[in-house]
Parts: sequence; C-alpha cells; structure tokens
Amino acid sequence: MKSAPWWKEATIYQIYPRSFFDSNGDGEGDLPGVTSKLDYVKSLGVDAIWLSPFYTSPNKDGGYDVANPRDVDPRFGNLEDAKELIAQAHKRNLRVIADIVPNHFSDQHEWFQAALNSKRGSKERERFHFYDANEDGTPPNNWISLFGGPSWTQVADGQFYLHLFDSSQPDLNWDNPEVNEDFEKTLRFWIDLGVDGFRIDVAHGLVKEDVLKNHPDPQGLSNALRLDVAMDAEKRNALLLTVPYFDRQGVHEIYRKWRKLFDSYVGRDIMAVAEAWVHPPVNATRYVRADELHQVFNFDLLTAEFDSKVLFDVVERSISLNATVNALPTWALSNHDSPRVASRIGEEQARALALFVFGLPGSTYVFAGQELGLPDGQLQDSDRQDPTFFRTNGAIKGRDGARVPLPWSGETTPFGFSTAKPWLPISQSWKDLTIENELADPKSSLHLYRSALELRKEFLVGTGGITWLESSQHGHKNNSLLSYSRGSITVVMNLSDSAKEYEATGKLVIVSAGTVEAQDGKKVIPARSTAWFMA
Ligand code: GLC
Ligand code: CA
Repeated sequence: MKSAPWWKEATIYQIYPRSFFDSNGDGEGDLPGVTSKLDYVKSLGVDAIWLSPFYTSPNKDGGYDVANPRDVDPRFGNLEDAKELIAQAHKRNLRVIADIVPNHFSDQHEWFQAALNSKRGSKERERFHFYDANEDGTPPNNWISLFGGPSWTQVADGQFYLHLFDSSQPDLNWDNPEVNEDFEKTLRFWIDLGVDGFRIDVAHGLVKEDVLKNHPDPQGLSNALRLDVAMDAEKRNALLLTVPYFDRQGVHEIYRKWRKLFDSYVGRDIMAVAEAWVHPPVNATRYVRADELHQVFNFDLLTAEFDSKVLFDVVERSISLNATVNALPTWALSNHDSPRVASRIGEEQARALALFVFGLPGSTYVFAGQELGLPDGQLQDSDRQDPTFFRTNGAIKGRDGARVPLPWSGETTPFGFSTAKPWLPISQSWKDLTIENELADPKSSLHLYRSALELRKEFLVGTGGITWLESSQHGHKNNSLLSYSRGSITVVMNLSDSAKEYEATGKLVIVSAGTVEAQDGKKVIPARSTAWFMA
C-alpha cells in the first residue's frame, strides 16, 4: 500500500522570520537565525515549517509586499542562506513551505515602476488594474482597502490603480497571461531550490470581476474581512456573503494549472495550501478538489468563541465539507494576522483547545510562539508598524501584537532573541515564557505541545474520522463538555469554569492543565481543560 503523502496529516509550524531569531545582531530575525534553531523546531514534533515571506521587499506589509519574488531580502540574508535553511531542514526530515503572494506585487517591483513610467492603456499598465477616474474625479468604485482607506490610488496622469491592501501593494491583473507565466517561473524557482510546498497568500483574490461596481457597505465589508476586528458573527457572515472581489470562478483555472506544474515534479510530493477565507464555507472545498490544491485554511477557529456549540459546529462542518471532495481539514488557532489565541480566549482555554484540536483528522498549523502560550505583545502606538494602523488613523491597532519576537532565554528582555533592540519590543513580563524556562518546566505549555504532538503522531495520524460522544448534548450553547473518540483515543474538553465528571474508560494519557481525579468510577476533568484517554 502506498503510504500517505507527507502533508496529509502533518503538523506545520509557521515561522514569521523577522520575529524568530536574529543571527547578526540587527534586531530583526533572519534566515540563518531560523536555520540555527531548527533543532528546537524539530524537537516540537512538527513535520514541516511554513516561512512567511523573506523576499526582496520594502517591507511595508511585513514582506507581503514583494518587490522581487525570486530573491531574498538582505534583511533576511541571501539565496545561499535560503538554500542552507532548506538543506538543514531536510536533514532533520522537516519539509519547507514557502509563502507565495500572487494577488499583488510591491509598488517597488520593476513591473509597477514600468507601469508608472508608461502611458494609460500600455502593456505595462495591463499587468495591474489601472482605470480612469469617474467624471467627477472620484476613484472608479467605492471599495475600501482591507487595511482601511480607499482601494484606489491615483497616479500622475490621473488614472487610478486598484489595491485591495496597502497602496504599496498594487493588485495584479490575472487576465494577463504574462502574470501567470511569471508566477509559474517563481514556483519553479523555489521548487528547484528545494521547497516542498507553498502557502498561497490571498488565494481567493486573484481574479477580479465587475471592478467598476460599487458595494453597499464598503467599510463594513472591510472590517468583516479582518481577523483582528471583532464583530458579531451573524453580521460578519452576512457581509462576507457580499464580497465582490474574492472567490471568483476564474481562480480555480489558475490552481488547476499550478497543480499540473506541481505534479510534474514526480516523486517530490509538492503541496499547496490556500489562504482562501471564502463564504459560504462550502466554497472553500472547491480549492481542494482533486485537480486543484491540497489544503485550504480553515479560519473559523481564529475567531470562534470558546463555546461548545460554536466549536462543535466549526469542527463538524469542516470535516464534513472537506469529506465531500475527499480532502482533510486544516486547523489553526493563531497566525500572524490574528490576535494570539492565549490573549483572545485565555491561557488555559488556549491550551485546552490546542489539545482538543491536535486529536482531529487533518493538518494542524501552529504559529511560532503559540507552543509557549505567548499572549499578544503589549505595544505603544509608537511601536506599531502594521499599515492598517496608519491607514485607519489608529482606529484599528493592527497585527503587530501577534508578531512580537520570540523570547528564547535569560532573565531580561529581549530574552536572547537579539543582541540589539528588537524591531518590536518584548515585554519584561514574558520572563517566565522563554523557551529556556518552559523547557525546564514539565508543566509548561511547551511540554504540553511536545507531548501532544508525539502522541498524535503515534496514535492518531492515519486513524480516520472522529465519533462525537454524548452527541445528545452537542449543538447546545453553554454545554460544559465536548468529546469525541478517534482510534484508540477519547478526547474530552471541559469548557466550563468548574471541574466536571466524565464517564471515561481507559487510562489518562495527557491533560492540558491540572490533574484528572477518578471518583466513583468516573473521571473528574478540571475546569477549562482537555484530557485524552486511551482504551
Ligand atoms: C495575507 C497575509 C497578510 C497580508 C495580506 C496581504 O492575508 O497573511 O499578512 O497582509 O495577505 O498580502
Ligand atoms: Ca538579523
């Protein structure tokens, strides 16, 4: 029997290179820094790393504004460093996933510079979305950038260009075949350099239709699309059904082509995961049809309340929708765009939810620092760098809190991350959360992650679907327990603020907090915790 491909039920560790480890004392993490810490990464029990962008970039949006997608920005090192990182990862049997950003380039990319220096209607402008102003001088439509402010910026001759994100990130025109040719070149470039897969940024955004139509509530829509803006779930879902610029049918043609490209590397098992937050959720399954991509992110857990009904619905829906296309779900509790899970739902809840999710079928993504239970960094406005903060005049604080560098060791900030002042300050209050400290403490979040990932690999990966237990209670709000069995493991999460009895057979193998007591033949699960029992 052919064994499952490496990515099928992998645990993937997301590294934001600028915040991981600084090897050369300039206050910013870099590729040699990542390479030097691969033993730590390996020790977590993960299968792969996903590196957020490290390409040539003016860094207006944390490197998601790419000026040359086939080179390394000097702040992160050079191509030799990238090769060495990949080689060292492979030596440790860790796969490497690169980020690819096809929705837009940086305004510093040579194509955009050429477009600025060319006339309206020129082939240089046709690589982007340039339109004339309305008769009254206003932009071609009323869309608001996902980072706030208009989605359009005017150039010297009066035309406007479209940018769904920052004005320094002009959207590419995917109707122009040159764009796909260039991206295929980039994909091959990194595959030839050794990467094993891609995380496709804004994968649902590439194709635009009806660019000249206005939206009835552009500001509401822009907020609804941000993971760091809190919003009533119903309101958010209603708005998300109206996005005019995402999830057009044409994007799937692109991924069918890319899939052929990936598969042409026979024996390499190249995979791709789509960042495609689309609505209704069933649409996400289209990205993982057999001839398209391998995985699509599920963003539901990034905003879900710590509530049994909400979590039951999210998990159930994701598993069943993916099953319709023969795919497995993905799970993520944190990433570089959303508040850290420990801050969003609480420290103990975050540990409980992680342990709950690690039992599930599919791939799990862990954002570096999540294993430590890091909260969001406490920042002053003067520290902030996210374009959202500036484009909303400070009304939205932005994503910097999740991007504060990792605390490695020692008693004082910046805790071994760098010998210089880090690009975002690390609070002294993180003293107990350093990797060094957590390694020394068997009760730490780090040890929980390590043990859970090991158990997951040994007993759960490849064992198929889950069976909900106590199903009569599921689907209700404020229910205290949520439990399922899979293979030989029973997973029980107690969401309530008091200890709860549970009739579990088998022996306890791990618990996210406290200790599980046995009482009258029942097990007592501590408040806000998850336990695994083995039959
Ligand atoms: C994705 C990235 C985010 C970036 C945006 C624009 O959502 O995850 O960090 O700002 O795309 O590229
Ligand atoms: Ca550095």
